[in-house]
Amino acid sequence: MSELQYSQKVNPIMATYGRFPIALVEGKGSYVWDDKGTKYLDYSSGLATCNLGHVPDVVKNAMDQQLSKLWHCSNLYHIPSQEKLAQVLVENSCGDQVFFCNSGAEANEAAIKIARKYSQQGDPTIVSFQNSFHGRTMATLSATGQEKIQQGFAPLTPGFEYLSYNNVDDLNKLKEIKPCAVILEVVQGEGGVIPADPQWLKMLDQVCKEHDILLMIDEIQTGMGRTGSLFAYQDYDLEPDVISVAKGLGSGIPIGAIIAKEHVAKHFSAGTHGSTFGGNPIATTAGLATVQHLVESNVLDEAQSLSSYLWNELKQLAEGDNSIQSVRGKGMLIGLQVNEPAIDIVHKAREEHQLLLVVAGPNVVRVLPPLTTNQEEADQFLEIMKKIFA
Ligand SMILES: Cc1ncc(COP(=O)(O)O)c(C=O)c1O
Repeated sequence: MSELQYSQKVNPIMATYGRFPIALVEGKGSYVWDDKGTKYLDYSSGLATCNLGHVPDVVKNAMDQQLSKLWHCSNLYHIPSQEKLAQVLVENSCGDQVFFCNSGAEANEAAIKIARKYSQQGDPTIVSFQNSFHGRTMATLSATGQEKIQQGFAPLTPGFEYLSYNNVDDLNKLKEIKPCAVILEVVQGEGGVIPADPQWLKMLDQVCKEHDILLMIDEIQTGMGRTGSLFAYQDYDLEPDVISVAKGLGSGIPIGAIIAKEHVAKHFSAGTHGSTFGGNPIATTAGLATVQHLVESNVLDEAQSLSSYLWNELKQLAEGDNSIQSVRGKGMLIGLQVNEPAIDIVHKAREEHQLLLVVAGPNVVRVLPPLTTNQEEADQFLEIMKKIFA
């Protein structure tokens, strides 16, 4: 627990998070240290954010230079790092234009707003999927297909309908609803690490094309190499109209964005949307260094081969041990469905083995290694898993 003594009777931080009783003060690569000097192997990557590990040199060096030049200027001026990052993002996706903001929820807010603008002559409904997670602002929690996230916040933002994920029959309902857009994760992260069925995705894409429904892919957790390619949709032969990104985009510096095809992007004309900090020089310098490294180095290839190794070993472990029911997900977004409360495993890993993991629902342990992790660290993780599930 942090050693801070509070001058007030209650903790001055609101209790929105169930915090683990350690305070992390330093990080490098796959490791973090707490304020007592204990070293942890961080296979949670700050919740799928530190994809290049903690304080990666390539991002730090770019940031160091920018920090001595200019921290902030408004979007009333051109921002070179913002323009370069937009360029790299469109060159490496199917999108044409980018809007920058500061977080995942803000990125999905922008996606929702642009879909509504696009639909002005038609139906403003947006379809999302049960079990999805799209954020905690009013519109994004309304898009989120989980009652527990929405509870207590009625009235919700109107205009959302929810269909069943991976359900072919529900695609007929989509044809009836004829929404302006669908929003989905190609691997549901917070909802329990549930990958989309590729066949179902293809059929969904087909319905969207036939009925002029925008396909909006939430890549906030799956993007930036987490599931293999730079964006997860790239492994499924899809061409989304809108892609939302955040988390790994800034390697830990807050940044979010939507990347949209031109026919959608043109609906965000001057004055329709904005953000004071969105795309500021510091955030976009971090983003630019991150994305350039992801696309120019061999980090994604190396992560692919190490994730195959992890998958094989974890599947073998699951076969020999019925306390792991299944191993699911994609690339470095791995869910272990377990028989006991997942949080107990997460506590055990941290307290007894100095390994940081997170949960994704009551019975799924989420393993999110940095993409830069190496063989030795992967073996260290697997040894701990063997001890925990022995
Ligand atoms: C798929 C997805 N969308 C949106 C969000 C919200 O992002 P943020 O917490 O940055 O607002 C998250 C966060 O976990 C997420 O996983």
